[in-house]
Amino acid sequence: MKEIKIGLIGFGTVGSGVVRVLQENAPLIEQRLGGRIRLHRIADIDLERDRGVQVPHEILTTDAEAVLSDPEIAICVELMGGIEPARTFILKAMKSGKHVVTANKALLALHGAEIFAAAQEYGVRIGFEASVGGGIPIIRSLREGLVANRIISIFGILNGTSNYILSRMTQEKKGFREVLKDAQRLGYAEADPTLDVEGIDTAHKLAILAALAFGIRVDLNDIFVEGISAITPLDIQYSSEFGYRIKLLAIGKGDGAKVELRVHPTMLPAHHLLSTVEGVYNAIYISGDAVGPTMFYGQGAGGLPTGSAVVSDLVDLCGDIIKGIKGRGSHLPLVSSQQGAIKAIDEVVTPCYLRFTALDRPGVLSTISGILGKHEIGIASVIQKGRKIKEAVPVVMMTHEAKGSDIHHALSEINSLDIIRAKTTVIRVEGDIA
Ligand code: HSE
Repeated sequence: MKEIKIGLIGFGTVGSGVVRVLQENAPLIEQRLGGRIRLHRIADIDLERDRGVQVPHEILTTDAEAVLSDPEIAICVELMGGIEPARTFILKAMKSGKHVVTANKALLALHGAEIFAAAQEYGVRIGFEASVGGGIPIIRSLREGLVANRIISIFGILNGTSNYILSRMTQEKKGFREVLKDAQRLGYAEADPTLDVEGIDTAHKLAILAALAFGIRVDLNDIFVEGISAITPLDIQYSSEFGYRIKLLAIGKGDGAKVELRVHPTMLPAHHLLSTVEGVYNAIYISGDAVGPTMFYGQGAGGLPTGSAVVSDLVDLCGDIIKGIKGRGSHLPLVSSQQGAIKAIDEVVTPCYLRFTALDRPGVLSTISGILGKHEIGIASVIQKGRKIKEAVPVVMMTHEAKGSDIHHALSEINSLDIIRAKTTVIRVEGDIA
């Protein structure tokens, strides 16, 4: 039986998951592949930690070079994460003729063009199924299963940490900080949660999906990004009164001359399938012109689910090596030469939820609605509860479809009024997810 040797750089949670999948499902994988995947070397700075998997001690090394310069290794699996030295290692592996498999979404989102150009130059392939949605086979689905479609829209819950926090805030009526602390204690959030809760990790994943779906070159700076740290239990309560749930969504729409790409807390109908995605689970809702709406759901992180995606790339690459197929690329390349025209958030039109913190005085509502009206913003409904003569109270409005720039200008004016006692909260609404 033909044997393909692979090298692993990064033996953390995902690395251990890959090893476990390769070991436990070895007979199945060999039968399906018609060959054997041999784990030839593993590089990590920590060789002592118990990862719950057994590997021969002699294949372990602290030196990534031992993987990169070993001519017997056909595929280098990069699972260390971060930008450097991962970028340098991947480029070096390619230069020495190795195919690469990676789960590194930040690297692909920031340096995808360079990495894919190198793959082309050196005649190697790069697998990145694990970079978006953990175990959900969304990359292969977009590149192959949905290749016949013009993609109309993508709505993704792509960050398990944020979804876990929002789910618990909703179920337990607790504040962001309190749930975050608990999530950190339970291992669902990092000590520094910025990348996850501020929407950056979601934007990395959206950049990858959008490049595949819309065939454009995506600059991360063109994606509007807002995280969940300013969401309060009050917003969650009001949103449920209006019949909505709040989710951190990655949104991509390609139905016009420009592509819309944004990441922000979004109010979506409580009955929509995406609203039922709870906890650390991920889901991607994609509509194509031929297929209509589709939804992919599963575990977006963790050793075994992400290991499942990494091993799928390995089997794919090894299959081609065994069959002697060279240069088979997927039908949709990750990097296009087509410069994408991406809509600025000011051009985006959505209904908005606005929560004002206003003094409860006669004329306040008419002042606010007058300014909104002057900026062409229509009000669909208003909620004001409670009465506090001296203190500010929440005044909540749901607008009709409004242009981002109009909301922006109206709120600058409203926020500077004496009767307004805190910055107004804005949450965009997607009421009609096709
Ligand atoms: N940190 C990510 C999440 C998992 O919370 O979903 C890896 O992409």
